[in-house]
Order: sequence, then C-alpha cells, then structure tokens
Amino acid sequence: MKIYEDEKQCYIKAALAMGTTEEQEQLRKNLDTIDWSVLEHISKKETVNERGVFAPLDAVEVSEIEARSEEFKAAGLKAIREGKVGAVLLAGGQGTRLGLDKPKGTLNIGVTKDRYLFEQLTLNLMEVTDEAGVYVPLYVMTSNINHKDTVEFFEEHDYFGYPKEYVKFFIQEMTPACDFEGRVYMESKTEVAMSPNGNGGWFSSLVKSGLIEDIHARGVEWLDVFAVDNCLQRIADPCFVGATIVSGKESGAMVVRKAAPDEKVGVLCTEDGKPSIAEYYEMTEEMATLRKENGELAYGFGVILNYLFPVKKLEEIVDAHMPIHVVEKKIPHMDTEGNFVKPEAPNGCKFETLVLDMVHMMDSCLPYEVVRERAFAPIKNLHGVDSLDSARELLKGCGVEI
Ligand code: UTP
Repeated sequence: MKIYEDEKQCYIKAALAMGTTEEQEQLRKNLDTIDWSVLEHISKKETVNERGVFAPLDAVEVSEIEARSEEFKAAGLKAIREGKVGAVLLAGGQGTRLGLDKPKGTLNIGVTKDRYLFEQLTLNLMEVTDEAGVYVPLYVMTSNINHKDTVEFFEEHDYFGYPKEYVKFFIQEMTPACDFEGRVYMESKTEVAMSPNGNGGWFSSLVKSGLIEDIHARGVEWLDVFAVDNCLQRIADPCFVGATIVSGKESGAMVVRKAAPDEKVGVLCTEDGKPSIAEYYEMTEEMATLRKENGELAYGFGVILNYLFPVKKLEEIVDAHMPIHVVEKKIPHMDTEGNFVKPEAPNGCKFETLVLDMVHMMDSCLPYEVVRERAFAPIKNLHGVDSLDSARELLKGCGVEI
C-alpha cells in the first residue's frame, strides 16, 4: 500500500485534498522517494535494540594522563604532523531546544564582543594546529536545513582565520517526522516535514558526498568526531590522539567523571565484551550505584560526544545497520487546515541514528578522562542546565575572554 492510500495519514490526505492537480502529482512523486520503513519504530520508542550484558570499562584517568602527558602528546603531535588526523564537526542538528532559526554554530556566545560558536570551535582547533605547525582538515556536516547558512557564515567570517582549503562541507540525509501516532507531518502541500537523520550517519554521508577521496588523498587515518555545541571542545587534542594510539585500542572517546550516580549521561562500558554506551535510562539502580574497591563509581564516566575513530574501520562498517532511535521533538508542520504550526512543546517524533552506537562497532575503545570544567560546556538550551548561561561561566572559568 502506498503511504497516501493509508487512511490514518491525515496530514498527507489533507495536503492532497488542498493541492492543485500539479501539486498532488508533485507530492505523490515526493512520497514515492521516501523510505518509510523508519515509521515501524514508532511503537518501539527508546527501546531501540535488545541490549547485551554490560560490564564496567576502566578509563585512562586524569592522574595517569598528567603523569604520561609528554609521551601521549608526542605520539599525538607526530600523527597530526604526519597529516594522519582529521576532524569532523557534526553540525547538521536543528538545535530545537535552543530555538534558533539559524545554524547552532552561528550562536553568538560573546558577552563583551562577538564570539560565535563556530568561531570558538575554530579557535580551539587552532590552539592545536599552532602547536603542531600543520593544519588539520576539518569536515563539517550540515543538513539541507542549515547548509547554505552554514557555508555562508564561514565565508562571511573568512573561515575565522582557518585556511579555507582545509574546511570541507557535506550534507547529511533526511528522514520523515511524524506525530506520536505515526502520522507523517507535512511541511507544505507538496513536501513532507523531513528532519536530519541523526548524527550516526555522518560517515556514510561523508562517503556519499565524495569527501572520502579527500581523506584518502591527504592520508588521514584518524577522524576526531565532535559536536557543535560544546564550546570548550578539545579538537584533535594531541594528548587524546596520542593516548589512543599508544593504548593500541581501536578507537578513543573523551569522557567526564559522572557527578552523581543518577546523572543523566550515557556511560562508556562494555556490552558483551565490546565497547558500548549505556544510556542513563538503560542502567539499573544497581549498575548506576555500583562502586569499585576504591569507592569510585564502576560505571563512572560519561561520554561527551568527542570520539576518535580509525578511517579504515569506519570504511569497513559504513554499510552496517545502525539502531534507529525515536526521539520526541518539536516539529513545525502544516496542519490539516493548511495552517503552519510552530509547536511550543514536543509534538511528535524524529528518527535518528546516533554516533554513540558506532562505538559498539569498534573492537575496543579507550575512555579518556577530561576535566569537565575544562573540556565540556554544552549549549543545549538558552538558560539553565547545559545552556548558553552555564557555558559562558565555564568559558570564563577557563580564562577565555568573551
Ligand atoms: P543533539 O542531540 O543535541 O541535537 O545533537 P540537536 O538537533 O543539535 O538539538 P536538539 O536536540 O534539537 O535541541 C548533538 C550533536 O549532533 C549533531 C548536532 O548538530 C550536535 O553537534 N547532529 C544532531 C547532527 O549533526 N545531525 C543530526 O541529525 C542531529
């Protein structure tokens, strides 16, 4: 059955009823190009996949990192200077919690002067490239929704002083969004309300864009993947890169020590012997409060969306199936009367694959502890927890003039 023949699909039906003959034809054509299989996940919500047996995974902790910093840093700088390290900025999200109409990276986080999030991230990266004496290629993932604005912003600001030939953009794919009952929302009389398909498809989108050729041509062997919204983000950090290489582990993940057993972060652990991230809602009380002999939490380190993956392995797993997560979000849409609705609260679901699920596809992963106050200032909201306000305080605490 075609999606527009399904009686339940009231938004599609209404759009068809409102459209002219040409618009109806256009809409049917568009509907036929969309993969609707994601809708099957609507009843599954967050229980996306059966989980295996979790076990704690020890991190390389700050004390050890400090003691071995010269060794780690030298190994990381060597790889960077040999051109083996690239960085991937995940900037395809919609930042619905922040409520900006523009790409999240264009947010002005400055207080006494303009300082854009994209600019701050570039400055963070330049601390590394200045020290290494070479540039690190930066691949920026955008989505159809923010691509043009993102590229224009970098252009207008002269790439914040980073050489343009080292910055490449690619666009991620989109999936349909629907209400809580699985009724697909419409954007207009001819277009479905589509949203970015999560940050898990970044490598496959990068390959599809052809940029993998650039990675091969430059001899990049490692990709440091990171989120746009952490303004203290350490990018291609030599110590992190070096520690991962020296450890002989296949991949690395920056982690922060959990503030409390019930903190809502995904913790890095093992699942059936392979590295994995247990989301806070997947942890039993027993797991969350389990302590090691020294009194520290056994599942004590949360991920902050900064991973180091080897290109070779990424190419091996590029076609692998990734779990689909159903995420409740605010979805602007055209209602059945033809009015455009901008909801104040989540009104439906999007379907996303997540980069954290890639960790489980690695044979091993080094949890690398960073000090929260120095490396983790996420901006998810304007005020309150993980907000522009809290990030500004954290930046100031690190001596960054904003
Ligand atoms: P979030 O999970 O915070 O999602 O993204 P978001 O879309 O930015 O914000 P909300 O949830 O709507 O408020 C974490 C990181 O993953 C990127 C984001 O840009 C951010 O860097 N991301 C997210 C993508 O690149 N693509 C996506 O489809 C989703």
